[in-house]
Amino acid sequence: MIWDTHAHLDDKQFNSDRDKVIQRAREVGVKTMVNIAHSEPSSGEAVNIATKYPFIYATVGIHPHNAQSCTEKTWEHLIRLAQNPKVVAWGEIGLDYYRDLSPRDIQRKVFIRQLELANDMGLPVVIHDRDAHGDILQIVKKHPPQEGGVFHSYSGSWEMARELLAMGFYLSFSGPLTYKNARHAVEVVTNIPEDRFVVETDCPYLTPEPYRGKRNEPAYVREVVKKIAELKGIPFEKAAQFSSENAQKLFRLK
Ligand code: NI
Repeated sequence: MIWDTHAHLDDKQFNSDRDKVIQRAREVGVKTMVNIAHSEPSSGEAVNIATKYPFIYATVGIHPHNAQSCTEKTWEHLIRLAQNPKVVAWGEIGLDYYRDLSPRDIQRKVFIRQLELANDMGLPVVIHDRDAHGDILQIVKKHPPQEGGVFHSYSGSWEMARELLAMGFYLSFSGPLTYKNARHAVEVVTNIPEDRFVVETDCPYLTPEPYRGKRNEPAYVREVVKKIAELKGIPFEKAAQFSSENAQKLFRLK
């Protein structure tokens, strides 16, 4: 049994075949998926999808790209949605200094606000960190998530990973781990303890090899598990088992 801990099944790229995509995943052993929100509308969609399928969970939250669109009304709406029992985390939240689609000072303010909201709601957090390692580390140290959380599609160094692991975070790996230029992630996976990693697709983005160039979907998370098994020198089944046990602990579903 495998968990895809980070899927955007609400994305419009799945509008024509969402049911089939979900069924394909189930058929190859990807039994549980977490639909990650990135905006106010997508938080509502994530909860709708999780309500429809017993094996799909949801998050609510605002991605740093959408930080400048937030108002007090946004938080009121998200707090209401987060009370749904299928909501297992607050995210994805964080900083994105690669695309800079919202001004950085607003990204930081909205990130801190959501770390506080997650603590108020008793939820772990799903963190997006793109080219913002220093600021993210500083902020999570100052505003530690009380229920822990995960760094999704982890791309930082092993040195930073060690700090995050010491703070109790899980690290999540995705398609880029299978790419030829994946040096950092390979080093981190090789070294990470077996009880601290989870896997994800981030679909429809970040498609793993050998499907690169196609739309990504939860069934392909098996390629990430395969790569972790290879790097750690353990059987595929063991890597799958560790990642799903860790996901259950991360989202408090054990
Ligand atoms: Ni994502």
